[in-house]
Amino acid sequence: MSHHPDPASFRAAASRFSTGVTVVTSSGDDGAPVGMTANSFTTVSMQPPTVLVSLKRGRTWQAVSATRRYAVNVLAADDVAIGRHFAGAPLAQGTPTLEAREGFFLLPQAIAQFGCEVVNAVEIADHTLFIGEVRWCRHRDGLPLAFYASRFRNGLGAEILPADAMAYPAEGWTI
Ligand SMILES: Cc1cc2nc3c(=O)[nH]c(=O)nc-3n(C[C@H](O)[C@H](O)[C@H](O)COP(=O)(O)O)c2cc1C
Repeated sequence: MSHHPDPASFRAAASRFSTGVTVVTSSGDDGAPVGMTANSFTTVSMQPPTVLVSLKRGRTWQAVSATRRYAVNVLAADDVAIGRHFAGAPLAQGTPTLEAREGFFLLPQAIAQFGCEVVNAVEIADHTLFIGEVRWCRHRDGLPLAFYASRFRNGLGAEILPADAMAYPAEGWTI
């Protein structure tokens, strides 16, 4: 038996953990905004308010490493195109507007925004966990964009399930 699952099995199993979708932004060398789609956003602690994102090396990673600051913008259900744009599939109509506010770059249509200062950066494999203290945040009502089984999904959060709701895997395990 090998020490790791094969990458396809790992990706498929990990994709069953449903997440929201964020765009992590920062400021590039020239002061212009950079951003990338990230679903690795996690809240870490309440006191002080602390979050993390796990970013692989690239333009946004470079900007966060240099400035030690980033913003997390939580996407609404109707912002699939923005999620795709910041994952490398550019919108035909051009780059979405990012507003400079409170020293961060913010997506106006996000349902929540967090402005963070990096307090710790932990390198793991080909990613870095950027642990950030939240300096500023705000939110508004709206259904979130979700990501599950490698697909964008609509409307997670629309339905509150009863505590005894239970489902068994109809097809059984895939391995
Ligand atoms: C739904 C979704 C979630 C993603 N989450 C992450 C993530 O948490 N960390 C990461 O490094 N890349 C993630 N990616 C891939 C990056 O968005 C993509 O590689 C991006 O182009 C990197 O931008 P950069 O060149 O500014 O680094 C995700 C992509 C998608 C579609």
